[in-house]
Amino acid sequence: MLRLGVLVSGEGTNLQAIIDNISNGYIPDCEIVTVVSNNSKAGALNRAEARRIPHSHISKKQFETLVEFDDALLKHFQSYNVNLVVLAGYLSMVGEKVVNYYKNRIINIHPSLIPSFCGKGFYGIIPHQKAIEYGVKVTGATVQFIDYEYDTGPIIMQKAVKVMQGDTPEELQLRVMKQAEWIILPKAIKKISEDKLKINGRSVTILD
Ligand code: GRF
Repeated sequence: MLRLGVLVSGEGTNLQAIIDNISNGYIPDCEIVTVVSNNSKAGALNRAEARRIPHSHISKKQFETLVEFDDALLKHFQSYNVNLVVLAGYLSMVGEKVVNYYKNRIINIHPSLIPSFCGKGFYGIIPHQKAIEYGVKVTGATVQFIDYEYDTGPIIMQKAVKVMQGDTPEELQLRVMKQAEWIILPKAIKKISEDKLKINGRSVTILD
């Protein structure tokens, strides 16, 4: 059984996509055992509440040091026997202790085709603003394993989305969420739950 710990910061539409795809049976043998937000006002916490999923506000501001925050997050996940950590619109860095303990068991959804428009400072609406400014014709979303830097882990899955003439960043963000994020994040979790995702170094293979 996959026991998910989901990290959120915002509206929680990616969390909702996971919730929906567990309840409709698309993702088998999987349960969200805890949702953790670094933002006490995140809409994602209301979504967890609505589905009676245990949820917590744990933020680095509650601790003296980042090491204590990292420690607290790891202990929280261990207390729920989490065996896969999912960053679903999470806007904070995951600490070394969590990354070490959950090596190749932490995945993230990023709203661009990595290595474009990613790295420190590229989150939320910003990748879409940069994509439009640059004039790319295609953008999309990426699911990747988390490692010690921003957006540098092995890539699991990507899905391309057309940039339309005159798109605003908000219109593009919504299209990328609908046509890519809300599809490939549940799909990646499904493949992990079915043990159909193999990783060797940076190379990730997904079995049909
Ligand atoms: C989305 O663009 C997601 O890709 C990014 O944060 C935004 C909000 O995500 N990481 P959510 O609605 O909170 O899942």
